[in-house]
Amino acid sequence: MKFFIDTANIDDIRSANALGILAGVTTNPSLVAKENISFHDRLKEITEEVSGSVSAEVIAEDAEGMIEEGKELAAIAPNITVKVPMTLEGLKAVKTFSDLKIKTNVTLIFNANQALLAARAGASYVSPFLGRLDDIGQDGMDLIAMIAGIFDRHNIDTEIIAASIRHPLHVTDAALNGAHIATIPYKVLGQLVKHPLTDQGIEKFLADWNK
Ligand code: E4P
Repeated sequence: MKFFIDTANIDDIRSANALGILAGVTTNPSLVAKENISFHDRLKEITEEVSGSVSAEVIAEDAEGMIEEGKELAAIAPNITVKVPMTLEGLKAVKTFSDLKIKTNVTLIFNANQALLAARAGASYVSPFLGRLDDIGQDGMDLIAMIAGIFDRHNIDTEIIAASIRHPLHVTDAALNGAHIATIPYKVLGQLVKHPLTDQGIEKFLADWNK
């Protein structure tokens, strides 16, 4: 499983990239709104920092509008992936982007049929939202396992991005259940590194060395 970072904050993206583990970035309108900068300018900065896929979401709700916006976003850099919501109009737009060889990430996936439809329309990635399912008392991880099983059985090469990740256990379980990628908030990335026995071990080694 690869790591993406789920943010539009350029400092966090740079810090994550310096760790050598970053395969891509996902943004969404809520994350961009926190940043107080032009969306296009920020995407330019991100694509200059990260060579992997950078997801940029369209705002239009009709296919025509999505296609127009998506083409503009894709023109910013070759590694832009157009993020499209899981709707009938979104599927139409994904088909067009696929014909144009523009990569897509179908977002707001909450069941396996949505993922299968997105894949068949030509999506490069699907993003099931784990945390938001957990929030309403459904097991988000079951969905990852179900989508991974279906894609595997039908030889579908669309990649599964485990999204709406809230804590380290989500990351481990997403890897175990067949997600290709986990897109992780910067805070969770920091939590993945930490273990109290690692910290205690370092402290003890240093104390012994200083004796
Ligand atoms: C994924 O691409 C989304 O940006 C994100 O993971 C949503 O997470 P949230 O449910 O924490 O807002």
